[in-house]
Amino acid sequence: MTWEGTNGAFAFSSQDNSGKAIDIYKYAGRDSIIKECEASLRRMRTDYIDLYQIHWPDATTPIEETFEAVLRLKEQGKIREAGVCNYNVEQMKQADAVVKLVSNQVPFSMVERTIEKELVPYCIENNKSILAYSPLQRGILTGKIKPGHKFEAGDHRPNTPFYQPDNIARINAFLSLIKPLAESKNATLAQLVIRWTIERPGITVALVGARNAGQAEQNAAAINVKLTQEEIDFINKHLYALQLV
Ligand SMILES: NC(=O)c1ccc[n+]([C@@H]2O[C@H](COP(=O)([O-])OP(=O)(O)OC[C@H]3O[C@@H](n4cnc5c(N)ncnc54)[C@H](OP(=O)(O)O)[C@@H]3O)[C@@H](O)[C@H]2O)c1
Repeated sequence: MTWEGTNGAFAFSSQDNSGKAIDIYKYAGRDSIIKECEASLRRMRTDYIDLYQIHWPDATTPIEETFEAVLRLKEQGKIREAGVCNYNVEQMKQADAVVKLVSNQVPFSMVERTIEKELVPYCIENNKSILAYSPLQRGILTGKIKPGHKFEAGDHRPNTPFYQPDNIARINAFLSLIKPLAESKNATLAQLVIRWTIERPGITVALVGARNAGQAEQNAAAINVKLTQEEIDFINKHLYALQLV
């Protein structure tokens, strides 16, 4: 299965892995959608892409224009299905009126459940898949981040709310309550968290990142961890008591 996202024109600054500033452009105009899809096909040496996701909404391009281009790609057989990334419900509805969307790729983890207010109910009701990205909240839900953790230069995590010392302590206190459950299944916390994520209503896929092969193998094995409804309720009871600052 092949899948690609486009970065559709507004620009923002980010950092590459060495901490060097890079400019990122979001442009989802008709010309860009077509050109970027064709470039993806060439790079992946394939004739079609199974799922083509428009990576970010682009405030400078009408959604209809973007998705008319996506519809052309579908009609031409260059993509099988269309999806989006980081779109809200209103944006999904506008896109869906032009071409049927099958998925939205959005941030979701035990501690970042914003999508459950509107997006998840909409996707369940309208049969759209959700690809949850950063389900380990970029590593903290593995339990390995302790207060005072030394991050590499250029690592964005210490600037995010989850990685503030108070929240690191609170998240770890929560993890210590569910760790015995992981251990009883010979699973790591990361595996327990990934499995919980996949079991969450409306979540279709957990898109887990890995720094190395060992992490990737461990995370993939989360599929073998089984959770009963009672165990999910136990995790949720502690999770709902967790308050971040
Ligand atoms: N569509 C979008 O806008 C968007 C945005 C962000 C991400 N994504 C996608 O989502 C994927 C996952 O997101 P993410 O990487 O941000 O977050 P994540 O999956 O929550 O966390 C991944 C990080 O956690 C640590 N980790 C992973 N497995 C581990 C294990 N078994 N044991 C210990 N540490 C472990 C690693 O970091 P360290 O080892 O360095 O601590 C790894 O880089 C990405 O690969 C990307 O494809 C999409």
